[in-house]
Amino acid sequence: MTFSRDDFPKDFLFGVATSAYQIEGHQFGGAGRSHWDDFAATPGNVVRGENGARACDHYHRMDEDLDILKAGNFDVYRFSTSWARVMPEGRGAVNAEGLDFYDRLVDGLLERGVKPAATLYHWELPSALQDMGGWRNRDIADWFADYTEVVMRRIGDRVWSAAPINEPWCVAWLSHFLGHHAPGLRDIRAATRAMHHVLLAHGRSIQAMRGLGMQNLGAVCNFEHAAPADGSEASGKAARLYDGIYNRWFLSAMFNKEYPAEVLEALLPHMPKGWEQDFEVIGAPVDWCGLNYYTRKLIAADDGSWPGLHEVDGPLPKTQMGWEIYPEGLEFFLNRTHEGYTRGLPLYVTENGMANADVLRAGEVHDPERSRYIEAHLAAVRRAIGAGVPVAGYYVWSLLDNYEWSLGYDKRFGLVHVDFQSLQRTPKASYHALARALAR
Ligand code: NOJ
Repeated sequence: MTFSRDDFPKDFLFGVATSAYQIEGHQFGGAGRSHWDDFAATPGNVVRGENGARACDHYHRMDEDLDILKAGNFDVYRFSTSWARVMPEGRGAVNAEGLDFYDRLVDGLLERGVKPAATLYHWELPSALQDMGGWRNRDIADWFADYTEVVMRRIGDRVWSAAPINEPWCVAWLSHFLGHHAPGLRDIRAATRAMHHVLLAHGRSIQAMRGLGMQNLGAVCNFEHAAPADGSEASGKAARLYDGIYNRWFLSAMFNKEYPAEVLEALLPHMPKGWEQDFEVIGAPVDWCGLNYYTRKLIAADDGSWPGLHEVDGPLPKTQMGWEIYPEGLEFFLNRTHEGYTRGLPLYVTENGMANADVLRAGEVHDPERSRYIEAHLAAVRRAIGAGVPVAGYYVWSLLDNYEWSLGYDKRFGLVHVDFQSLQRTPKASYHALARALAR
């Protein structure tokens, strides 16, 4: 790695991130059915119909994984708690074994001197709640606040930080308008409701955690740099609309208590009654903001139905996901988030990393592409810090190769290789390089 801790502010934190459904093995330990199980069981939704039933079997291999994390010299671990594991029906009865698991996870991190950073929702909704409309139903804000309390009454005294929802755009738009994630809807009315309710649930969860006396609470959003694919005015407008739906909708609501006008104009007929009164809750003060960043998109206008745009293949080198590598976008979003929205709050890069077609040969994985990707994005972070943006930490996605949602197990994002037959873990060259760079 071309950096050391000395290149960053003294208290800058380096971490790795994972999520429950992607690594734990959802069939174990009394977890309830989730809408991702249902989505994956529907033909055509997921490559080979793969699901998170076993995943990395982290549920049974937690100690081994935490030892690997510790040996990588990381300061902080971002994990998620699974709603359906803690409350199998989404409401009411609590699965004691599920809560115990997260309790042991937090203690296991603290024993190893690693800070626990919890996220309460990373995409698997209890099926019983989906049956009641899921994110379309305004009541989800109450259900989510109750679940927040159940989890945080147990681990809230020991987690270092907490965030309600990972990537609200994916929860709402990707899942209800584009139909690529559970519940796989392509419905503007459902999507609009989800776009609002996901924010309301975020705010209610923050309030619930404040009520328990918790500090260091944040929001985690995803960002894609949207650039016009050509010089036309129409494509410029399309890229701005894409940016509004993807990047600005959530930040505007949480930090400026308004929705971007050009997006709201189209969604207005579908907004739930009384939405204008919800900004006080949505804007409940947070202590930090997290940015998940991977790539940029070239956007062109078309005369299809709203939003009338499509992505165009770009010329930059790509990862295994087909995503262009564009570190400048991260620098752009760190600057814009600070100047336009968070104004001085600490920012964290809560996810960044690349999928690579890694192969295990003679017990080793050579992934120089991943090391270069991380270096380039950390250089972008340093430039933002140099420009006065208070970036306080950076998490690599991900610790382990894992279940990449509708793309199944082929896309390898881990610093650690997982053989999905034997479940053997093998730290890759990028892991070793990071461990050396982060050694104290
Ligand atoms: C964002 C998501 O939070 C995570 O679940 C996913 O695996 C990575 N991006 C990579 O696509």
